[in-house]
Amino acid sequence: MNGIKITAQAHSNIALIKYWGKFNDKLKIPNNHSISLTLDSMYTQTSVEYDASLDGDQVFLNGHPASEKAKTRVQQFMSLIRKRYDFQEFAVIHSHNSFPTAAGLASSASGFAALALAATKAHALHLSLRDLSILARQGSGSASRSIFGGFVEWQKGWSDDGSDSYAIQLLPESAWELGMVVLVLTSQEKAISSTLGMEETVKTSPYYKAWLNTVEQDLKLVRQALAQRDFTLLGTTMEHNALKMHASSLAAKPGILYWQPATVQLMHILWEIRKSGLECYFTIDAGPNIKVLVEKAQIETLKSRLSDINSIEQIITCLPGKSVHLIST
Ligand code: PMV
Repeated sequence: MNGIKITAQAHSNIALIKYWGKFNDKLKIPNNHSISLTLDSMYTQTSVEYDASLDGDQVFLNGHPASEKAKTRVQQFMSLIRKRYDFQEFAVIHSHNSFPTAAGLASSASGFAALALAATKAHALHLSLRDLSILARQGSGSASRSIFGGFVEWQKGWSDDGSDSYAIQLLPESAWELGMVVLVLTSQEKAISSTLGMEETVKTSPYYKAWLNTVEQDLKLVRQALAQRDFTLLGTTMEHNALKMHASSLAAKPGILYWQPATVQLMHILWEIRKSGLECYFTIDAGPNIKVLVEKAQIETLKSRLSDINSIEQIITCLPGKSVHLIST
């Protein structure tokens, strides 16, 4: 098949309850369910065009040929689609992020979600959102959640082949307009990928079991907070869950610490801000950056309280974002 160029847009998501550790590394089946918020202003646009004359996939990231590492990951994902849907053509792939790539800002989530939709549609394959979620998961676990907008739960699944490990939408983006204010402390690539970080934690951290044992309760509280629109319950549970995830990695051998001095400085500042009456909560992924959950009406006040902190390189303000969709270019 030649020549139809399809472009898809998928939004990044930030886990409120983290996915941390896999039961099957190859199929990216997680050990625990996770819950996330899809973000409107952080997204990836990816175009795919198959060309029967190519002898390999060509991958461009933000206008430049992708690094070997990124290219290999994309090519492996494309090979999986070719094998699964039984065709041979290679493709030209262009991907653009609206935010810094690979700094714990979930670029792989929006990237693989956009690629899953563009790469299947460009081959005239029409997958359900559930099947797209299963497919995107195999590019990057958290990409399974970026298929959906709003508040999303990735159900870990129970079968060995990953066929029931996919995300579902808990609340659409319009149901609860919360802000996620992303504080970019460094836009440099992280030293330890999330894949490696979780693998090492599962293997060597004595606290990993404690993580797993307490996640179920956190999930329950967050589902309840979403149903009742209880911001305090949502925020306190989210922050606690993130700190537990990081505590489990810190206890890996050798220890894994994703935080920079500026991360810790910001944690203290945010606790002070909260104490002063502005209710906000943070979460941190496999990188140094901080994401702050705040009610929409408080976003500007929060930003003004953070405006003179030198260690913040960039602030990205997000509201709940949409499901993956096609765009015309
Ligand atoms: O999907 P990955 O391999 O980028 O892993 C994501 C891991 C965390 O961001 C730390 C947690 C999560 O659930 O997104």
